[in-house]
Amino acid sequence: MPELSVGDLGTARLEPEDRERLHGHGGALLWFTGLSGAGKSTIANLVDHALHQRGRHSVLLDGDVVRTGLCGDLGFSPHDRAENVRRIGEVGRLFAQTGVIAIVAVIAPYAQDRDAARARMREDRFIEIFVDAPLQVCEERDPKGLYAKARAGVIKDFTGIDAPYETPTRPELHLDSSGGVGAQALAEQVLAYLRQHGFA
Ligand code: ADX
Repeated sequence: MPELSVGDLGTARLEPEDRERLHGHGGALLWFTGLSGAGKSTIANLVDHALHQRGRHSVLLDGDVVRTGLCGDLGFSPHDRAENVRRIGEVGRLFAQTGVIAIVAVIAPYAQDRDAARARMREDRFIEIFVDAPLQVCEERDPKGLYAKARAGVIKDFTGIDAPYETPTRPELHLDSSGGVGAQALAEQVLAYLRQHGFA
């Protein structure tokens, strides 16, 4: 390893490939989308953990967490959701450019917003993963009690109740999380995809 010195480096800038070489693998943006309660965060967390164990550099950007900080000023209007998705997409893109596997888990209900995030990435580096469970199943799970509140009118503009979810038409991966297959097996499907495409 060379000494820490600028030596004769000149003015050339580091390219994404230089950073990827340091990580030992290419960066990517894994985008988990689906209804609240579909299982996005659970599966995304398993994938993050498995990648870490295998020595891959990953970062998890979960909507619930990001909304407490970077996106703490945003609500759930179409405009605010677009901005939420844009910011998370940009952060994910920056990570991916350095060779990190960025894992995003957000509802991102509007196809236009997801497509905008995709358009900012190299084509083979954006992996849209549709975590698909029917509304009825998500509502029965209701892990945070939010569907009940939305039905009662306490929460407005709740995805699936009185705000839309536009189903992905051509995701790279379509996971059926309605209950027949557990989160671990679904995470394995994602890892298999990453192996096949040289990310893990
Ligand atoms: S997104 O639509 O902008 O992508 P995001 O994934 O960041 O949403 O946040 C969704 C989470 O916020 C849900 O899992 C839920 O816990 C919470 N939430 C609170 N109000 C709403 C709402 N009106 N619609 C959807 N989710 C909501």
